[in-house]
Amino acid sequence: MAIKKVGILTGGGDAPGLNSVLYGILLKAFDSGIECIGIKKGWKGFMENIKEPLNIAELDDLHTIGGTLIYTSRYNPYKAVHKLSDQKEKEELAKKIATEMASKFKDLDIDALIAIGGDDTLGVAAAMFKYSNAKIIGVPKTIDNDLLGTHYTFGFWSAVQLASNVMDNLTTTARSHQRVFIVEVMGRDAGFLTMYSGISTGADIILIPETPFDLESDVIDVLKNRVRSGYKYHLIACSEGAYPSKESLLRDFKTITKKTIDNLPKDEYGNPLLLSLKISKILVQELNLRDDLKEEFKKNGVDFECRSVVLGHTMRAGTPNAFDRILGLRFGLAAMKQVIKEDFGKMVSLQGNKVLTMPLEEGARKKYITKDSDKIELRDLLVKVRYKSKQ
Ligand code: F6P
Repeated sequence: MAIKKVGILTGGGDAPGLNSVLYGILLKAFDSGIECIGIKKGWKGFMENIKEPLNIAELDDLHTIGGTLIYTSRYNPYKAVHKLSDQKEKEELAKKIATEMASKFKDLDIDALIAIGGDDTLGVAAAMFKYSNAKIIGVPKTIDNDLLGTHYTFGFWSAVQLASNVMDNLTTTARSHQRVFIVEVMGRDAGFLTMYSGISTGADIILIPETPFDLESDVIDVLKNRVRSGYKYHLIACSEGAYPSKESLLRDFKTITKKTIDNLPKDEYGNPLLLSLKISKILVQELNLRDDLKEEFKKNGVDFECRSVVLGHTMRAGTPNAFDRILGLRFGLAAMKQVIKEDFGKMVSLQGNKVLTMPLEEGARKKYITKDSDKIELRDLLVKVRYKSKQ
């Protein structure tokens, strides 16, 4: 049976370029005589049958607009499965949910589904394919760029540019006041956004979740060395998920202790919600408590002052840049072609400069910056060489 009606949903946090993917899908669908149905608010709309037909005639240049036309949510029908620890129980519940979900295709009156999302959304799609052979294609999305199956996700470069612009601009006020600015960049688990925007703007210290930092050697010593070398203002790019090493936490931190962390609100799996600490604000407090740092600044003619800026959701806001518009359109086109081929259970992915496909289950996993990355080497050189070359 040829595919006649395709459902599309977007799940998880929004990202610039989601509408570009939609437009790419719609262009190819129109040309192939396929009808597209927008399923609203991600998996929530899928489960509750909330949908709306998408008419390309009313959507000129949709690819240039930020956000998602069909709304999004973090609703995850597999939440209960993730909470289980017993492998057999997990497997049984996963199968049961997949079978229930497969029956929704009929209620929604769709022949196939394109799910656009991050590891959470695509994890659900992968399970639906694995356990019920659902006619499903995945498109990878997250501004964090932390999906294993693709070199870049759309939305990432728009967010990197946005953070770089803010940091570039902040240098004028930092310079005017001779201040230390700590800029907190999105990225709970992976540091791609902080690393790329930090390097591009020439941040003086870059802290990411993958390499837990030592307050003494990675922050205080660097600031002292920089001020000794004549630098009067400093920019620290810090991931929202950056965290001190255990050793440094116990040894150097005065405003948070192990008890603070134990008392934090927990996520559904019992892990402390470290993000609620707002690491940039903690760093400001910690640096302000360091008389030795203040003295070193004073000796070098600078009054120590430190401020934090949390970029937060501004990083997902606004229109996609040209790269993300094109990548979104290419992903949309590739996803619809895959539907037409009826080759399901795949995720479209950017590999080098080509848009290819790979099994959903493989691609929908998390990716991190690895120790051997040239970005880590660049970061470390940027931090060190600038002050050392002036000594
Ligand atoms: O997953 C993308 C992301 O932007 C993370 O970097 C950030 O921690 C999170 O979403 C914020 O999510 P929410 O919009 O649900 O607050």
